Amino acid sequence: MTTTVDSDEFFNPLNPSHIPDPDGFMQASRRGCPVGQVSEFLYVANTDDVVRAVFDDTERFSSRGNFSVGPEDVKTPVTMVTQADGVEHDTLRARLLKDMAPARLRRLTPEVAEIVRKARVALPESGRVDLYADYVHFIPAAVLYALIGIPKPTWSEVQGWADAIVRVIPEPSDGLPEFGKLMGFLAQLVEERRSRPDDRHEDVLDNLCFAEPGDVDLPTLDVVAHIFQLVVAATDTTRGLIANCLYRLLENRSQWEAVVADRDLLPNAIEESLRVDSPAQFMVRTVTEDLTLAECPIPAGKKLYLNIQSANHDEKRWGDDSRTYRIDRPNAAGHLAFGRGIHACIGSPLARIEARLAISALMDAYPDMRLTDDATWVKSEGILTRRVESVPVWINGQDAA
Ligand code: HEM
Repeated sequence: MTTTVDSDEFFNPLNPSHIPDPDGFMQASRRGCPVGQVSEFLYVANTDDVVRAVFDDTERFSSRGNFSVGPEDVKTPVTMVTQADGVEHDTLRARLLKDMAPARLRRLTPEVAEIVRKARVALPESGRVDLYADYVHFIPAAVLYALIGIPKPTWSEVQGWADAIVRVIPEPSDGLPEFGKLMGFLAQLVEERRSRPDDRHEDVLDNLCFAEPGDVDLPTLDVVAHIFQLVVAATDTTRGLIANCLYRLLENRSQWEAVVADRDLLPNAIEESLRVDSPAQFMVRTVTEDLTLAECPIPAGKKLYLNIQSANHDEKRWGDDSRTYRIDRPNAAGHLAFGRGIHACIGSPLARIEARLAISALMDAYPDMRLTDDATWVKSEGILTRRVESVPVWINGQDAA
């Protein structure tokens, strides 16, 4: 189980000892310190009502420097959609929505199903496997690369670079050799696309490379930066969702069996996973004016860490069993795992489709699948993402003996 530490100490995202198992510290914060200061620059909001209200208040809370928990914003050559405010944000989001409106993402379902099928048939018929490394890992990256328009023969190489980058986010990744390789590769891809203006595609690259009437022409660096943002936003988060949900279902065997028997229970099981184990643990906002939040004064210019995970465990909203995984929880989809308001996750319909198809395919093929006896929940490294490190299973229900 994740939630083993009970503590009176308040959660501090800058304290490395709080990161592997943060829930007890977060609970203490919800009780005693809904909003508190953890460094000269950083404040933390821990409750559902406050986090929700801040997501909605884009006047007093700017997205500038989103993700940065240190005194300096992580420098980026171009403002990306999650960091943009006002008209700049609306224009960028509208451009991305051309490829990522919910109806368009739903049309990708057959492609997602094919990617899931490939991952599934690569699994052995029986024996021990790590569902994270051997199954989940491939799916969100492949889906994203198809959506962007990255040529298939290059997927494996691109995934290697992207994984190295995602491992260090939100720390700056521009010093990594993989960062230079990915940026160079994407820039070349943009140039190639633009050199063939008659060869059009229905993908993100096409949309960003070629301006329609009313769109601005984007320099190559901007196109590369917006695609880079998608790589960061879409892969490890969605892997986290699928792996976490599989683990929670298998760990609570009767809930796995209930969903195997009635697949209509799966969507709520996925929402409950997003709530209990929020793949994106937090977002950051910059305070634009002196203000007071839950009795805590915060001067203009300071950073506010929106503790999505803690908000999603808030007893006041979710009851005393808020840290328990329950596939029958009413209104589980009311969580904040995809954020809220004008920056709410643009990829959430796709993440949900991927999770549904990936989990369902395993249930069809291996209804007797079991976690191995030595399986333990270990959170992957890094402060931004919550993803179980591995999901070791006996694929056809055998025991270790
Ligand atoms: C389980 C998987 C995912 C989780 C938990 C997640 C979480 C989030 C959250 C919390 C935000 C809000 C950012 C903010 O308020 O500052 C966000 C925004 C965003 N997400 Fe996701 N995301 C997931 C999957 C995806 C996927 C699959 C894509 C793309 C294919 C994607 C693309 C984006 C983009 C572009 C934004 C920025 C939207 C804006 O600023 O207007 N995400 N995501």
